[in-house]
Amino acid sequence: MVQNIIVNTDVKQAKISKHIYGHFAEHLGRCIYEGVWVGEDSHIPNTNGIRNDVVEALKKINIPVLRWPGGCFADEYHWKDGVGPRNNRKRMVNTHWGGVVENNHFGTHEFMMLCQMLETEPYICGNVGSGTVQEMSEWVEYMTFDGESPMADWRQENGKKEPWKLTYFGVGNENWGCGGNMRPEFYADLYRRYQTYVRQYGNNTLYKIAGGPNVDDYNWTEVLMREAGSMMDGLSLHYYTIPGDFWKGKGSATNFSDNEWFLTMQRALHMDTLITNHRAIMDKYDPDERVGLIIDEWGTWFDVEPGTNPGFLYQQNTIRDAIVAGVTLNIFNNHAERVHMANIAQTINVLQAMILTDKEKMILTPTYHLFDMYQVHQDAVKIPLHINNAHTVATDEDSFPQINASASKNDSGIVHISLCNMDAYHSADINIDLRGMISAANISGKILTATEKNARNTFEQPENVKPETFNGFVTKDTTLELNIPAMSVVVLSIEE
Ligand code: AHR
Repeated sequence: MVQNIIVNTDVKQAKISKHIYGHFAEHLGRCIYEGVWVGEDSHIPNTNGIRNDVVEALKKINIPVLRWPGGCFADEYHWKDGVGPRNNRKRMVNTHWGGVVENNHFGTHEFMMLCQMLETEPYICGNVGSGTVQEMSEWVEYMTFDGESPMADWRQENGKKEPWKLTYFGVGNENWGCGGNMRPEFYADLYRRYQTYVRQYGNNTLYKIAGGPNVDDYNWTEVLMREAGSMMDGLSLHYYTIPGDFWKGKGSATNFSDNEWFLTMQRALHMDTLITNHRAIMDKYDPDERVGLIIDEWGTWFDVEPGTNPGFLYQQNTIRDAIVAGVTLNIFNNHAERVHMANIAQTINVLQAMILTDKEKMILTPTYHLFDMYQVHQDAVKIPLHINNAHTVATDEDSFPQINASASKNDSGIVHISLCNMDAYHSADINIDLRGMISAANISGKILTATEKNARNTFEQPENVKPETFNGFVTKDTTLELNIPAMSVVVLSIEE
């Protein structure tokens, strides 16, 4: 049976912030060290210590914002240890992630240099769990004060005359857990206090993000919005897609059953329920939707690759991951009024990464290609899309709709529709009614798909999964008829 989609191309809704396509890089495993930072003396080609191949690849997907330095690491990080001559920097133990020595060679200056190379905006997460108000306040002064002050002078001594432009600042991370095991009432008060001293200097306007709930902790959202909503610009939410049990076994990234595929898709779709419910609470306190819901950690989380350090969270990435990313980004697009930013975890060599490296080698994951295809939605305007989901993917006990989608229109009037087929075995016949268009003359498409559920790119076969041109459609006036294969993501570009 054909599935019908109606797209109202002439009805403009909220702008899909490009920041929804943001990323996250923590001092965890081989994300920063090896993945980004190899040092100036490395034989791996680099610019001032930062890998050239990685920068070149990430620039192509237009990363709009990058969150750093954590994660759990943020609430143990003392920024002053990471500035000044590198050889003098204090060494510490990264207690959260593998108990390895952190030499602080990648600090504020190096991170800001990376952002400049990537042409991306920095999103810094400050330390509430084990840091002082003064420490947080001075970090912002160090980065953004233009004039004479103790921190600005120190920044200049360390080689940076002009302040950096910094917009996004997080006041702690997961303060219900690794960031201090706090109750929401306690954190709400701490948030109010810490953010008071996160000053806006000169023309630098900050967007302050409060540490938000874990998954479905709606009470946390309620308390934070009630007690501190007027003092924040954003509230974070963390949710990972895990087909198994977080503590007992999350499941393999590459060796998984049909049921694990099913659970992965179903749990990815759960993001929609979470956003809907957290939005409803936020609407109560902030009906004008001033405060953004910032999903600054999301993605798949599987068991680490066999033989790798369990504290490094290194996992492979398959077509399944790419579909999870496609579904999740569609959900964010469809909630663009409230979701102002999102940051997939984590850019390189950790969790649902864009890039995997092995010494001087680098590969792009299926998720990287998905982000590449979805760039078209960045800063475009959401347009309404309705699906009559005639087909579901079902087990004996449960089911979910086969197709997930979103649509946008950019400044040039080009409509983009992204469609995910979450069914691992069945293709989908789809009719799209492009309402509000006079003709659909110029259509092109891209597809990301595979024939094996666990298809992936490896260092030996780096191009197993990559986007191809999609021609599987016919046009009748303003109706499109298409067939999209099982486990695929298609992005259509339609011009009048
Ligand atoms: O992304 C890995 C970890 O997951 C982060 O450090 C933490 O914030 C979350 O629990």
